[in-house]
Amino acid sequence: MNDLDLLATRDVLVEQVRLEAAGVVSLTLVDPDGGTLPPWTPGAHIDLRLPSGTVRQYSLCGPPGDPRSYTVAVLREEDGRGGSAEVHDTALVGRVLRIRGPRNHFALVDAPHYLFLAGGIGVTPILAMARQAAADGASWELYYGGRTRAGMAFTGTLSAIDAGRVHIVPTDEQGMLPVAALVDAAPAGTAVYCCGPEGMVQAVTEVCARARPGALHVERFGAPPGGGAADARSPSPGAGHFTVELRRSGLTLDVPPERTLLDVVREVAPDVAFSCEEGYCGSCETKVLAGVPEHHDTVLSDEERERGDTMMICVGRSASELLTLDL
Ligand code: FES
Repeated sequence: MNDLDLLATRDVLVEQVRLEAAGVVSLTLVDPDGGTLPPWTPGAHIDLRLPSGTVRQYSLCGPPGDPRSYTVAVLREEDGRGGSAEVHDTALVGRVLRIRGPRNHFALVDAPHYLFLAGGIGVTPILAMARQAAADGASWELYYGGRTRAGMAFTGTLSAIDAGRVHIVPTDEQGMLPVAALVDAAPAGTAVYCCGPEGMVQAVTEVCARARPGALHVERFGAPPGGGAADARSPSPGAGHFTVELRRSGLTLDVPPERTLLDVVREVAPDVAFSCEEGYCGSCETKVLAGVPEHHDTVLSDEERERGDTMMICVGRSASELLTLDL
């Protein structure tokens, strides 16, 4: 299924805000009319529009089988871009906010064993995965690192799922997660799921590239250092001019080499969804109806890139002269 089909927006009511750990709150979101919410799978996230209009992406971390509510958790990031501070500093209970999604680019694949590696607030999608793995009777281990125990959310919830499989590793007590050793020790066929700060994701990426090619599934909070998504903001030599047709709007626009596709689209569709503009958050994902997208994001899997039916228009361009989007 192309989960863009599920990308309707809807209003949700903030039913509860709860302190989960030092600097981390969770939000419980429900249908304002008491109805059910669309189903989701572990690894899914939503775009949440905050009262200021800022849009941020948060992984769903409540029980996947609960049709009544979504739960997200937000770490206050002192040097962040302001979204987390707004969540922490605004009285949100009782307010109605707009969300988009859920969608999932971090879904569980079938595997004989799962190694879940979570760092800090990256525990949120991993928590949902652990619940699912336990419910399925799967074989799994979870290692959760964080600076201090007091700042690590959901430790009790995780241990209650299966204390024997969950390993809480506060850095100030036990040092950094030994990710290389953990990956090396995992059984053959293990699927490695990692979500956490960029340094941790980089370390796990390097060891998996060496020891477990194809085993790694990651979700990032930012663009990888030294390029990745960011390289599309300055197109590579030869990346040139192309034309984009916005099928639903009935418009055809030129995209010159020095402008991003998102910039051009926003001129005629100012409400188009976006957030990071660096190709890692997934907010600007857009359905491709015709043409060959050139991907520069870190959201889509190799298989999704190959399919070419969706793209991140903040960094993506076109390998064909004409690209037709569902906008
Ligand atoms: S705006 Fe974040 S991926 Fe495009």
